[in-house]
Amino acid sequence: MIITIAHTKGGVGKSLISFHLAVALKAAVIDLDFQQTIIINNEMRKNNGSKGIGVLQTRSLEDLVKLRDHNLKNRDTKEEKTFIIDVGGFDSDVNRVAIAIADIIIVPANDKTNDIIGLHQFQKIIKEIDEATGTKLKPKLLINNVSPTTKDFISLDTFVEKNQNFSIMKSVLRTRADYYKTLETGTGITELKESKAKKEFKKLIKEIKKEAKNG
Ligand SMILES: Nc1ncnc2c1ncn2[C@@H]1O[C@H](COP(=O)(O)OP(=O)(O)OP(=O)(O)O)[C@@H](O)[C@H]1O
Ligand SMILES: [Mg+2]
Repeated sequence: MIITIAHTKGGVGKSLISFHLAVALKAAVIDLDFQQTIIINNEMRKNNGSKGIGVLQTRSLEDLVKLRDHNLKNRDTKEEKTFIIDVGGFDSDVNRVAIAIADIIIVPANDKTNDIIGLHQFQKIIKEIDEATGTKLKPKLLINNVSPTTKDFISLDTFVEKNQNFSIMKSVLRTRADYYKTLETGTGITELKESKAKKEFKKLIKEIKKEAKNG
């Protein structure tokens, strides 16, 4: 399974979500982010005595296509691996391929005005990929880094109403201090004993697994 965490807008939580998903799913990360956030998080993790996650770095379209072919050939066998692709916050051919080959596209999103503007830009890119490949991609918005008390995300609902290839995931990741604390040690959020952030993240994993089954 290939899970691509994508958004052309920077700072929405792609690397953070990729890292914690990789720890929880024992998956490897393909790091397309120039800032190498995952690599640094992983170094901190190893320095702290935990087993590092697998991180692959490539800028090559061919590598991504090979990865997709490997997984297609080995679908539903032990050889099939889970890869998380952390796409950098910019548009490029490699990033578009990472989106095109995904089994699940997760788009971290927020209901702030600038984030909605960013989503409209991202939707244009999705449309162009659809046109170029003859597919109909179905990105999933993952509401992330929102206040612990906000219940309604009307601007995101409106966006999805107008762009029905997008849907909103049921899980919501809220702004939680545990994400800062765990990054210092490279601990996965799901490795904590008890925390609200962990509870929310486990719900997300359940939803992804269900999606992969039905997919
Ligand atoms: N749910 C959350 N709770 C607390 N902090 C968060 C949450 N989500 C993201 N952040 C913080 O927001 C900042 C940006 O996150 P991150 O680096 O993952 O974004 P990104 O989308 O990968 O950015 P870029 O496009 O620049 O690679 C980080 O400091 C991260 O710790
Ligand atoms: Mg990043």
